[in-house]
Amino acid sequence: MAGIYIHIPFCKQKCFYCDFYSTTQLKLKPVFVNALIKELFLQKDYLKNNTVETIYFGGGTPSVLSYDELMLIFNQIFNLFDVSDNPEITFEANPDDLTGDYLKKLKQTPVNRLSIGVQSFFDDDLKTMNRRHNAAQAETAIKLSQDCGFQNISIDLIYGLPGMNNQKWLYNLNSAFNLNIQHLSAYHLTYEPKTVFYNYLKNNKIKQVDEQESITEYQTLINKAKQQGFIHYEISNFGKPGFFSKHNFNYWRQKKYLGVGPSAHSFNNESRQWNISDTAKYIAFIENDILPFDSEILDSQKKYNDYIITSLRTMWGIDLDFVKENFNEATVSYCLKNAEQYIKTENINLTKNHLILSEKGMLITDKIVSDLFIVDDEIF
Ligand SMILES: C[S@@+](CC[C@H](N)C(=O)[O-])C[C@H]1O[C@@H](n2cnc3c(N)ncnc32)[C@H](O)[C@@H]1O
Ligand code: SF4
Repeated sequence: MAGIYIHIPFCKQKCFYCDFYSTTQLKLKPVFVNALIKELFLQKDYLKNNTVETIYFGGGTPSVLSYDELMLIFNQIFNLFDVSDNPEITFEANPDDLTGDYLKKLKQTPVNRLSIGVQSFFDDDLKTMNRRHNAAQAETAIKLSQDCGFQNISIDLIYGLPGMNNQKWLYNLNSAFNLNIQHLSAYHLTYEPKTVFYNYLKNNKIKQVDEQESITEYQTLINKAKQQGFIHYEISNFGKPGFFSKHNFNYWRQKKYLGVGPSAHSFNNESRQWNISDTAKYIAFIENDILPFDSEILDSQKKYNDYIITSLRTMWGIDLDFVKENFNEATVSYCLKNAEQYIKTENINLTKNHLILSEKGMLITDKIVSDLFIVDDEIF
């Protein structure tokens, strides 16, 4: 079981909060698609004989790809990799790209799951974030997607925005759920260095929401999603039963994945590698048959820490049997010793040999994760 991630590194304009790698040089798109197709060929053995069960187009903005470009990429994947009969194929899209014509063509491709970046249903917030679309466009894009036959739709929302309050957040959540979506990813705004928002914050042009407001909005999110029959299966992810993201689930379960495109990461249980975050250089390297990545070998300590950080964020938590099988008995004791203070304070529940964050614990996930990390390798 394996996944393929495809990074489409183009954005028509940069959003003020975002530090995902992308360029606004859209003129590079045709040569980039050729390079991507070549990279898939150069990496065709990376997943060995593992069947590809999920494919994820992320960005940047995959919805800048034309039908023909997308089909070139699909043909290459289906020719070179062993893809399962019914793969989950997710496509991140910006609402303003999702016109009726575009969606009709998209429906003719193998894409079967849309992840639409709505962020907010307030025009003033969208403007503040430098989004390209307005609230009406977002709503239309979702409805058009449904009319075109997409039945697995996720949307992204951001909360904890400057100037946001719980009432506005509740409006955003109601708007989302009223649109009959299957999945919601809701992220608290983070101020990433080098973004416009980060500079605004440093120069006192915007004010961060206070901690209590963040907590209130998170609790509103959890309660509202539950009322709507959504399962809170990962800190930032909520899905109707049967609609959890299989691609992300496989990341959390330490399954292999190949990432292609600038800045994309790959993982094969033994090492992790990441492509250069520069589209022009990426193209030049690939044209010369060179794969432009750096890599690191994963020792037991890194593998354990990776497992902690990913598993603890999910509703299945840390599986102590998995820790015993994949590491050793001493690691289980180490993990339990460090978790003890959080079990006592009910931030973590120990259930059937799984350490699972409680709602209270989710508010301090980063602290708990860092306390469970192994910082030296004396255990191995
Ligand atoms: C890399 S973006 C790609 C999606 C697509 N390009 C779009 O904007 O609709 C994936 C999601 O990450 C979230 N995101 C990016 N930067 C963030 C930040 N600094 N804080 C919170 N969420 C962020 C947004 O919700 C965004 O939709
Ligand atoms: S949020 Fe999406 S559209 Fe905006 S800059 Fe990031 S990747 Fe591009």
